[in-house]
Amino acid sequence: MPEPTLATMDKIVSLCKRRGFIFPASEIYGGIANTYDYGHYGVLLKNNVIGEWWKAMIQERDDVVALDSAIIQHPRTWEASGHLAGFTDPLVDCRTCKLRFRADHLGELQCGRKPSKHPGEDPVCDLTESREFNLMFETTIGPVKEAGATVYLRPETAQGIFLDFKQVLQFARRKPPFGIAQVGKSFRNEITPGNFIFRTLEFEQMEMEYFVPPDEAPRWYEHWLHERLEWYVRLGIDRERLRLRPHEQDELSHYSSATSDVEYLFPIGWSELEGIANRGDFDLGQHAAHSGERLEFNDPQNGVRYVPHVIEPAAGVGRSVLAFLCDAYDEDEIGGEKRTVLRLHPALAPVKVAVLPLLRKDGQPELAREVYEGLRRRMKAEYDDGGAIGRRYRRQDEIGTPFAVTIDHQSLEDRTVTVRDRDSLQQERVAIDALAGHLQARLDPDAAC
Ligand code: GAP
Repeated sequence: MPEPTLATMDKIVSLCKRRGFIFPASEIYGGIANTYDYGHYGVLLKNNVIGEWWKAMIQERDDVVALDSAIIQHPRTWEASGHLAGFTDPLVDCRTCKLRFRADHLGELQCGRKPSKHPGEDPVCDLTESREFNLMFETTIGPVKEAGATVYLRPETAQGIFLDFKQVLQFARRKPPFGIAQVGKSFRNEITPGNFIFRTLEFEQMEMEYFVPPDEAPRWYEHWLHERLEWYVRLGIDRERLRLRPHEQDELSHYSSATSDVEYLFPIGWSELEGIANRGDFDLGQHAAHSGERLEFNDPQNGVRYVPHVIEPAAGVGRSVLAFLCDAYDEDEIGGEKRTVLRLHPALAPVKVAVLPLLRKDGQPELAREVYEGLRRRMKAEYDDGGAIGRRYRRQDEIGTPFAVTIDHQSLEDRTVTVRDRDSLQQERVAIDALAGHLQARLDPDAAC
């Protein structure tokens, strides 16, 4: 059993709001259904997560290329992909409280009138029959709504990759096995969004479609299960709080012959972080049939033609950010005072080093500025000279800054500074001239070798 953590959803939401990581959107109008904005540190953290994903997909491999396809695609895309007919959830309305619920989640939801009960449990509940509700957001192209063409905001980034398969095959000069990776926004009109950024209406996905010869699909499926789980571990998530859960036959999406979820033990329980699916030749086959284009690989070496099968690791950016925050969250005590600290992996930390003059006088701010100017070119650094030093340390601990550099009276005499480690709280003296190299080696020991 994994160790219990101190993170609860309430503490994470409150820290995110307090430090400006993530907060409700449209708040001056009372907010809008489970939609969130990312503030300064949230953007930096999210971008670091995305950056690490690109690094694992592109920089550390030779067989994956990048793509950024449109959010609004030809509407026939969704006919071919099966989303128009099948991307639905069962919905019930309550005629009493006027709320809508996912029929298959009633046991986890709260009744609108009596939150201690589930919808349908109280005698006043009056639920409709369940009906299928399509999750795609619809809009119109053209100045006149009635005469315009109905289009959809993409519910997954994957389909743009399938539509561009032929282009990429030509320009990227690849042959299976190879992958096309994409990061971008997707939109789903979820009936019951919730749990902070776990399930939202708009969210970013990091998806990669890996095209393989059909007989190699099972092997590559196993390969990606392993790769993706290890990615989270490498970035600091406790292995005990991660697991792979294969889908039961009746859970599989219409396109999948096998899917496993990477699940994380969130404060709400084990929940999906990422899905890895064997999509077979479903998508290329469907788009070939609907468009009339041949979407296959023709091997010039032996003249063999085939429709590649696809292994798809599909992760959510928001869910990954939430998992990294929950896993990094900790509380301890320093000198009898409670401290909240985010023990984020240095690669993910929004700020790598804070530069803090001990006093706002005697030339300390000037020297601290000089140190800060030298560091900021090499890493994300922050200068802070406002308030007591203890409070400034606490602030940096709460945003997960791995190192704080303090300039004191001795610094002016011998051009050394103290480097405080967020996790061990140890302080060591380092010469200003050697500081950038010292920090870089500790932030990324592999790169320093
Ligand atoms: N192309 C396959 C696909 O989209 P999915 O399991 O529906 O598969 C992949 O989505 C990932 O996207 C999920 O594991 C999750 O991390 C994220 N995701 C899906 N719906 C989401 C939502 N409403 N809010 C936040 N993240 C979501």
